[in-house]
Amino acid sequence: MNGSKVKKLYAIGNAKWYDYSKRVWNKLAASKAEDQLSSFLQNNLDETKTILELGCGTALNLEKVFSLNLKFKEYLGLDFSPDMLRIAKGKFMNIPHVEFKQKDITTLEDINKEFDIVLCTWVLSHLQSPSHLVNQAQELLTARGKFFLIFFSKPSWYVNFWASPFAGGLFRSYGVRDEEIRKFKNIKIKHSFSANITTTIEIDK
Ligand SMILES: C[S@@+](CC[C@H](N)C(=O)[O-])C[C@H]1O[C@@H](n2cnc3c(N)ncnc32)[C@H](O)[C@@H]1O
Repeated sequence: MNGSKVKKLYAIGNAKWYDYSKRVWNKLAASKAEDQLSSFLQNNLDETKTILELGCGTALNLEKVFSLNLKFKEYLGLDFSPDMLRIAKGKFMNIPHVEFKQKDITTLEDINKEFDIVLCTWVLSHLQSPSHLVNQAQELLTARGKFFLIFFSKPSWYVNFWASPFAGGLFRSYGVRDEEIRKFKNIKIKHSFSANITTTIEIDK
């Protein structure tokens, strides 16, 4: 996938509309996946836990953490779009244990720290090699760390033939194929929803 085209998609015009469109999308096709994310956070977060979020966008997941009244020790959100990050930073100004950094997440070699929780939602379908990112991130988990993902997967054929050109052309997003998912290390739980449009995965260290 061409990273600069994805960056353009999330530049100022679309970044402004992102939260609104995501709420509509959640209602239409992703409510079960988002419910699973909420349960994952409720079951695994407490004031001792550090969080790394890959492709944090406008920080809707961090908003979810606060709206669920959950505690955490530190949060680091990474994204390569300055426009999405500007919105994220605007929501969480002056919170000392929250940090956002502009970074391309396709290489994580320069991160020399481990995290208890890694999150990556609705990002993998923008990447050339989702398994490369997933397996690099899995190595950043602490001994009992957990990684939760939500992503577009390749839909069943009766949805794929009309949805794929639309998603690819408009959203620079290509459903992650099963053969790619099989390369993810240490999958603990996997669920698919809505004609396989959406997949959630929980990964252990
Ligand atoms: C659909 S949004 C998801 C945002 C957020 N995770 C959420 O669930 O609301 C995809 C995000 O991934 C970011 N992204 C895509 N490819 C990336 C890359 N290679 N490095 C860093 N961020 C990337 C985009 O800038 C965008 O903010």
